[in-house]
Amino acid sequence: MSITQASELVGMKKASEAVALTLKEMRNFAKPGMTTKELDNYGGQILNDLGAKSAPYLTYGFPGWTCISVNNEFCHGIPSDKKILGEGDLINIDVSAELDGFWSDNGGSFVLGTDVNQHQEIVAASKQILHKAICHIKGGVRISDIGFLIETEAKKRGYKVIKNLTGHGIGRSLHEEPSEIANFRDKFNLTRFKKNSVVAIETFISKTSSYAETLPDGWTMVGNKGGFMAQHEHTIVVTDGKPIVLTEMNEIWN
Ligand code: CO
Ligand code: CO
Repeated sequence: MSITQASELVGMKKASEAVALTLKEMRNFAKPGMTTKELDNYGGQILNDLGAKSAPYLTYGFPGWTCISVNNEFCHGIPSDKKILGEGDLINIDVSAELDGFWSDNGGSFVLGTDVNQHQEIVAASKQILHKAICHIKGGVRISDIGFLIETEAKKRGYKVIKNLTGHGIGRSLHEEPSEIANFRDKFNLTRFKKNSVVAIETFISKTSSYAETLPDGWTMVGNKGGFMAQHEHTIVVTDGKPIVLTEMNEIWN
């Protein structure tokens, strides 16, 4: 969406604070021995208390409040009472929701407890790259140039990017134009970021795979060559200068 009046910015801020707070609280609540279903229910309660509704449920009928993906799962992991979190797991939580007609999206990967499996490096890389990408976005910048920046920064650190997962416009629904904000230079994408538009910027930093594939459960995505991936996502408003990071209070950069 494009912000054309003050009330729209207020609405986007409220929806964004709901998803950001939920993500932060879920990350703090996650403990070894807990199931992903317990973690999802905890997040669902927070969203509910804030008057927000799960965006993937509303939009796609996703079987859960939030997407929780563990280890080799890249994204869209289904909360399950059979999936138990363990020390050193690489966990990705993605929280998107609708509140009073405004939609916001954020996510982040983190290592649970002690980093016994050496996942912290890719998590740190993904955070740094998201930060750098967002700092370079302003009205008039080509979307493909931000993709190029993300891919270049990933390669510099010895990583790949996932080609078929992208950021996206957001605001009055979960996915809006621009529909694909890729993590590489898409030479066919000539569009530019527009001032006052609301977009969700996401990194998809990977060790071995370049594509994500859907498992037979119809939701969970894993790498075409396996391995691990880290994702971090903020919903932002594009300006003439530094973007307004609407989901900043999720503290994924801290
Ligand atoms: Co998103
Ligand atoms: Co998301």
